[in-house]
Amino acid sequence: MATINQEIERRRTFAIISHPDAGKTTLTEKLLLFGGAIHIAGAVKSNKIKKTATSDWMEIEKQRGISVATSVMGFNYGDYKINILDTPGHQDFAEDTYRTLTAVDSVIIVVDVAKGVEMQTRKLMEVCRMRNTPVIIFVNKLDREGRDPFEILDELEAELKIAVRPLSWPIGIGAKFKGVYNIYENTLDLFQPDKQKVSERVEIDDVNDPRVDAAVGEADATRLRDDLELIEGVYPEFDVTPYLQGKLAPVFFGSALNTFGVKELLDCFVKIAPSPRPVETEERTVRPEEEKFSGFVFKIHANMDPNHRSCIAFVKVCSGRFERNSPYKQVRSGKVMKFSAPTAFMAQKKSIVDEAYPGDIVGLPDTGNFKIGDTLTEGEDIHFKGLPSFSPEMFKYIENTDPMKSKQLEKGIQQLMDEGVAQLFVNQFNGRKIIGTVGQLQFEVIQYRLLHEYGAQCRWEPISLYKACWIESDDSDALAAFKKRKHQFMAVDREGRDVFLADSNYVLQMAQNDFPKIRFHFSSEF
Ligand code: G4P
Repeated sequence: MATINQEIERRRTFAIISHPDAGKTTLTEKLLLFGGAIHIAGAVKSNKIKKTATSDWMEIEKQRGISVATSVMGFNYGDYKINILDTPGHQDFAEDTYRTLTAVDSVIIVVDVAKGVEMQTRKLMEVCRMRNTPVIIFVNKLDREGRDPFEILDELEAELKIAVRPLSWPIGIGAKFKGVYNIYENTLDLFQPDKQKVSERVEIDDVNDPRVDAAVGEADATRLRDDLELIEGVYPEFDVTPYLQGKLAPVFFGSALNTFGVKELLDCFVKIAPSPRPVETEERTVRPEEEKFSGFVFKIHANMDPNHRSCIAFVKVCSGRFERNSPYKQVRSGKVMKFSAPTAFMAQKKSIVDEAYPGDIVGLPDTGNFKIGDTLTEGEDIHFKGLPSFSPEMFKYIENTDPMKSKQLEKGIQQLMDEGVAQLFVNQFNGRKIIGTVGQLQFEVIQYRLLHEYGAQCRWEPISLYKACWIESDDSDALAAFKKRKHQFMAVDREGRDVFLADSNYVLQMAQNDFPKIRFHFSSEF
């Protein structure tokens, strides 16, 4: 039987992130194919929650329901246990993605070779940088016309602000795409467009092997050798240490749709990607190999059925061994709980698990006891550091329209905020509640859920705000003076922290100029 250290060592828990349409779903599916978790392409549909922001949100929620099944995709690949954490493609659910990134040990970023670095990729990379998450980049859609690979590498470096190192190299592109040379293993894969089968590999000794010329033609072989020489000249030898520190991203090229370059990516990934890493808590660093179990909730998925107000809290195991029916303490409430039906997903099947190891995600059926960021332990009072909340992009006043149901409304708002659907601020001046979100969809989701799950009715009133900034100062007089001057625009967040609601960029800049002793933060952790 494997020891706990062996179990930890063989786990790879990661997320695939991309701007919508770059090929995240397709790549996920191909990885599942390699892992034998699915047998035919097209089996992963969940991620189609995306495309247009105008799409019907009920449809989106329905699909989100389906996506519970793919929240975590676990499978074995050789000796490795792989856990892919799914992230919603739709931009309005960006916060969900940020939070999922707190639970992964590394990330694969997919970039479209024609489009290069897009907005969402940039944002997600910033979150990875905050946590020094190791990143591998997969440049996708080489079977289509796209940009010059050197140009793409420069753009990745400049836009994602991370050093890059190609570990595979394309031969031609689009109609002239002939294959990929695997720098990491010195092999050559010839391109055979095929959506279901894995392409075949040409065995060669090194890039000067005449078999390369025979395979791709003399002209392309010469170009490949020139390119590789340039790469060796420009980029230092690949070193795994800066990768693990989040400072260097290995880059692979391929075509997810054609299952091309994917195996190279996966084989290199399992070798270099980190197994579960130590995690910071407010009190101390928790190491995965510690004997006692600890974990935190990074996602709560509510059931939309009003008759069963149940949800699943997703817990990342950080240390020790999680066991079914063992008593665990929920640190925030102090409650001791036992879980008789924890679930995990292996090879697309959801089943009750008896145990789980660091790196694994367990789904705990719940009826409202959990809040995003909650810690579970065998008794120790530690608090895992979550991801800060970011300033929302959209704000609205929430008003009660059924005075008989104000308790229900209050409860509904609190629980939806616990789930991380949106952020709540209370204006200190007039006591009005303001909901902040990243997208318009959330307002519709909240209104619908308040009515159907809590029987409460609300309406939205417009408020023109630019940003919510958490403020602080070492000088209490300066802070008091600021709060007095801006009293109409001061609010508190759910933790009681002071938040300045700036109604325009101009006002914010003026405030920063006029009050040099105040620090303005655009995320809640500073
Ligand atoms: P996402 O999850 O990042 O949003 O992207 P997804 O995998 O859904 O891929 C977006 C579109 O790009 C899909 O086409 C998909 O088939 C296509 N695609 C993915 N990888 C490649 C590739 O290597 N080469 C080419 N040529 N296309 C690729 P779609 O028409 O939007 O969807 P579908 O009807 O094919 O599912």
